[in-house]
Amino acid sequence: MGARWCLGPSPKSLDDATVEVVRQLFLDQTGERYAEASVKTLPIPEWGGNLVLLDDNNMIRGLMWANKFSTSRVRIVAFAIDSDYKGKGFGAQAWDFLVEAARHDGHSEIQLEVRGDNEFAIDFYRKRGLEIISKLEGYYKSGIGYVMRGNI
Ligand SMILES: CC(C)(COP(=O)(O)OP(=O)(O)OC[C@H]1O[C@@H](n2cnc3c(N)ncnc32)[C@H](O)[C@@H]1OP(=O)(O)O)[C@@H](O)C(=O)NCCC(=O)NCCS
Repeated sequence: MGARWCLGPSPKSLDDATVEVVRQLFLDQTGERYAEASVKTLPIPEWGGNLVLLDDNNMIRGLMWANKFSTSRVRIVAFAIDSDYKGKGFGAQAWDFLVEAARHDGHSEIQLEVRGDNEFAIDFYRKRGLEIISKLEGYYKSGIGYVMRGNI
């Protein structure tokens, strides 16, 4: 099963069918239910931190959506990969592309929110130099969350 990361479009320009694919991906992989409108209003510009994983039929199999939170900091808003494509190194690849794009634009930190029970993701981010900097109560529907941040 081949797939490759490509520069993604701005969420507001997505057609209805693609929004549905994105919503299903988020729901399956994170348990978060996004309204159709909230996918389209996610503030993700077109840049090297907006990536879609496309399979051989150009179907979306993953997303890395990050924005330029401040001059120093990039924030990952959404990061999810279809079950069939997880654990094959695609996440690591997206991370490396994001870091490269962020550094190129002069950013020095990456920040994100993660569910407290998502040990795989927390471990993935720790290995990449991020640390838990605060705890989030009431951010996720079920359980606590963490803010993680690290230098790149
Ligand atoms: C978190 C997530 C995006 C990571 O993506 P992924 O593609 O599964 O991750 P990878 O396969 O790149 O990385 C997992 C590990 O497998 C390793 N790996 C690399 N190539 C591999 C291969 N061919 N086979 C198996 N493992 C491999 C990677 O090196 C990595 O190990 P490391 O962290 O020690 O470097 C993905 O698992 C996901 O969508 N999870 C559900 C949603 C989620 O939790 N999102 C984050 C919310 S904040």
